[in-house]
Amino acid sequence: MLEAMAPKTSKLGTSKRARPLSVARALDEGTRTLAAAGVEEPRRDAVALLAAAGVPREKQIGRPGGPVERGGLAAYRGMVARRARREPVSRILGQREFWSLPFNLTPDTLDPRPDSETLVEAALTLCSDRAAPLSILDLGTGTGCLLLALLSELPQATGVGADISPAALRVAQANAQALGFSHRARFAASDWGDGLKGPFNLILANPPYIADGDIGRLEPEVAFYEPREALAGGPDGLEAYRCLAPRLGALLAPGGHVLLEVGAGQAAEVAGLLAEKGLKIRGILRDLGGVERCIIASLATMFAES
Ligand SMILES: C[S@@+](CC[C@H](N)C(=O)[O-])C[C@H]1O[C@@H](n2cnc3c(N)ncnc32)[C@H](O)[C@@H]1O
Repeated sequence: MLEAMAPKTSKLGTSKRARPLSVARALDEGTRTLAAAGVEEPRRDAVALLAAAGVPREKQIGRPGGPVERGGLAAYRGMVARRARREPVSRILGQREFWSLPFNLTPDTLDPRPDSETLVEAALTLCSDRAAPLSILDLGTGTGCLLLALLSELPQATGVGADISPAALRVAQANAQALGFSHRARFAASDWGDGLKGPFNLILANPPYIADGDIGRLEPEVAFYEPREALAGGPDGLEAYRCLAPRLGALLAPGGHVLLEVGAGQAAEVAGLLAEKGLKIRGILRDLGGVERCIIASLATMFAES
């Protein structure tokens, strides 16, 4: 009896009698939900999530009146609900593009940021011979994005990606494999270079640089979804730089360069920390937003010039 009276539902829990939604209405519905949740670009994200649910962007534009297939609609609504809880699209999809390469990410890795491409660009301008067999060290490698982006541009280079998080290292290793660079990349557990042997021609690091007390004030996408060890830079945000500064010289090859990402307003202090430990500051580069983002340093001695 009870069974006879229960509404008919599909495996996905949607009513069998529910009319299929058109692409345009699905997009409007998702956009409204995301806007109400305070998502910055609700339409853009609705489009990306609908594409991930099986309705390609061309179809969204070309056939807005066409129906969204039931399974796709359930998947889309599930993803919209996650985004409305302010989970970033890249985390929902488990992937982020960096330097035009696809990187898988997990809750153990930072979601790579376009700002960090400043380091890759800077490193490449320092390489006069892109066919040279350079050795690269990426400290705090996360998804491996900095190291693997450079290996994609420097065909004879090899590198080490180091991180304190074994789970992040597994992600980086898998990304190296998926991108076809695992024969030139090695990954090692290390606390800011401990146990690693140089010399390296290029050392890159994008360390955690948010002051601990500021993390809770960041947008929910960052505060709730990024791994804390990828963000927390101690009471003033500079703890990792203090650990790194005295170790870099011993790992750097003569003529080699260190490239450190810094947070907004940190460049002068971080440059001071490096200079105190005998490194020479070669430049401070801004990201596309005009923020001082990347410090370039090298060994200070005359013999370091090559
Ligand atoms: C801001 S994330 C950068 C990740 C990646 N390089 C990127 O640019 O997307 C900082 C990384 O440093 C790692 N990390 C934190 N403390 C560390 C330590 N003491 N030694 C090595 N790596 C550390 C974190 O696990 C995280 O992967």
